Amino acid sequence: MPSPTPINRIVVADPVALADAAAKRLMARIEANPGRIAICLTGGSSPKQLYRLLASEAYSKRIPWDRMHWFIGDERFVSPADPLNNMAMARGIFLDRFAPKDHIHPILTDVATPDQSAERYQRELQTFYDADQLDPTRPLFDLVLMGIGPDGHTASLFPGYPAVNETERWVVGVPQAHVDPFVPRVSLTLPALASCREMLFELAGHEKHAILAKLSTDESLPANRARSLGETVLLVDQAALGEKTA
Ligand code: 6PG
Repeated sequence: MPSPTPINRIVVADPVALADAAAKRLMARIEANPGRIAICLTGGSSPKQLYRLLASEAYSKRIPWDRMHWFIGDERFVSPADPLNNMAMARGIFLDRFAPKDHIHPILTDVATPDQSAERYQRELQTFYDADQLDPTRPLFDLVLMGIGPDGHTASLFPGYPAVNETERWVVGVPQAHVDPFVPRVSLTLPALASCREMLFELAGHEKHAILAKLSTDESLPANRARSLGETVLLVDQAALGEKTA
């Protein structure tokens, strides 16, 4: 996988169709890999419908839970008991019901600082990957899920912040968020997120229309710089595109 391919934009009718399309792509990635599968989840509200779908009987029965490992692309530096915690949200919706406990890989927030948490998560990822340098021909993740914030951030990589330019570290502490919730964050960096077979952005609803339009004019936005070394897909619904729905 030498260099990123252009983004593949797929338009669907609405959030239900979007979650359905995302779940099908996840299943295709699972079917393509007979071995251990690594999924990097995302927080925020965008993936919730997908997570609910994965918990449904139709999907939960088909997912080979014993071969799946679940990571998170960024975390709000709040306790796992806090409703703002991204991995806790995913655990609550589907992971805790189906995934073996030691296959869920949260970013720890009960350490002293976001930097310490980032160092520990980087070590955890490197242990899982069994190397401390990313090899472009051997992706870390099968699938990386992503959302896009109103300022063009993705994961917790905010516009103009140094974390966006990180080239060595896999995970960084982000002392201050650029948008609500204004809590410190821990985020995977662009090179770590890029190390995947597929990066899948989900963007739905009219409130995403403004940022979608801005993405087409500002290449520097973090969401435009986040690309898989494999395939990058943007799943977008009609409302986000500004199209009238029936
Ligand atoms: C977070 C996220 C963040 C999110 C975007 C989109 O911790 O907030 O991981 O990058 O994906 O802000 O958020 P929504 O899905 O809520 O619009």
